[in-house]
Amino acid sequence: MKKTTKDIINIKKDDVTYEHEESLEVGGLIPIDVPDVDSMERIVLMKDQFSRTMDPILSMYNAAMNETTARLAVIKDEFRFRNVRCPIHHIDTRLKSLKSILGKLQKKDLDLSLSVACNNIYDIAGVRVVCPYVKDVYTIRDRIEAQDDIRIMEEKDYIQNPKRNGYRSLHLVIRIPVYFMGKKQLVPVELQIRSLAMDLWASLEHDLKYKNLHQESGIDFTAKLYECSRLIYQAESEMEQINDLLEDGQ
Ligand code: GTP
Ligand code: MG
Repeated sequence: MKKTTKDIINIKKDDVTYEHEESLEVGGLIPIDVPDVDSMERIVLMKDQFSRTMDPILSMYNAAMNETTARLAVIKDEFRFRNVRCPIHHIDTRLKSLKSILGKLQKKDLDLSLSVACNNIYDIAGVRVVCPYVKDVYTIRDRIEAQDDIRIMEEKDYIQNPKRNGYRSLHLVIRIPVYFMGKKQLVPVELQIRSLAMDLWASLEHDLKYKNLHQESGIDFTAKLYECSRLIYQAESEMEQINDLLEDGQ
C-alpha cells in the first residue's frame, strides 16, 4: 500500500499523532480550475506535453535572437578593430512570456492558437540595442539594412516622430534566417534601437507607469514625464554636440 503524507509523519513522530497540525494541506495551493492536478503523474505528463509543444518553438525564437546578437557583435568587433568609438553601448534580449503572448492575442482579438501567435506577433523575440548617441542608432540601423539576408518588415521611427508621452526609439521588425530542424525559416525579431538617454527615460517611465497602475494614485504624470523626456533629450543633444566637436577634431 502507498504511504500518504500522514503515514510518513506518524512514522517519523514515533506514534505521537499530530495529524491535524502536521498534515500538509496542498489542495488550497492548487488552482481549482485545473482538473486532477494533484496527481503527480498528471503533472509530469502536463510538463512533458508543455515542453514537447513549446520547446521547439521557443528554441527557434531563441536562435533568431542569438543570430541577431551575433550580427551585432560582429559590428561591435569591427569598430574595436578599427580603433574607433563603438556605436553600441550594450544589448539586452528577451523572449516574450507565454502569458503576455496570450494577452496580446486577446488584445488584438485574434485566435488563441500557437500558429496565429507565431504569424501575428512579431516581438516574441526582442533585442534592444542601446547606443551612446542618437547618430549611432542610425548607424546600427544602416548596418542591419545592409545585410542582404535580413529583411526589414516594419520600421517605426519614434525618434523623428516621438510618442505623445515623450517616448523615443527606433523600432524595426526584422526577419532573420534560422536553420532549425532541417528547415530554413525567416524568424521575426523586434529590434529596438535607442540611445542611452532614451533608454534611461523609457526604463524609468516603464517602472513608474507600472507602479502608478498598481497603486491607482489617480495622479496623471503624463505632462511631467513629457517634460522629463524633453530635459533628458536636451542634455543628450548637447553632449552629442560636444562629442561631435571632439570626434571631428581627431
Ligand atoms: P505591438 O507591436 O502590437 O505591441 O504594438 P505597437 O506596434 O503599437 O507597439 P510599438 O511597436 O509602438 O511598441 C512596442 C514596444 O516598444 C513596447 O513593448 C515597449 O517595449 C516599447 N514602448 C513603446 N511605447 C513605449 C512607451 O511609451 N514607454 C516605454 N517605456 N516603452 C514603450
Ligand atoms: Mg510593434
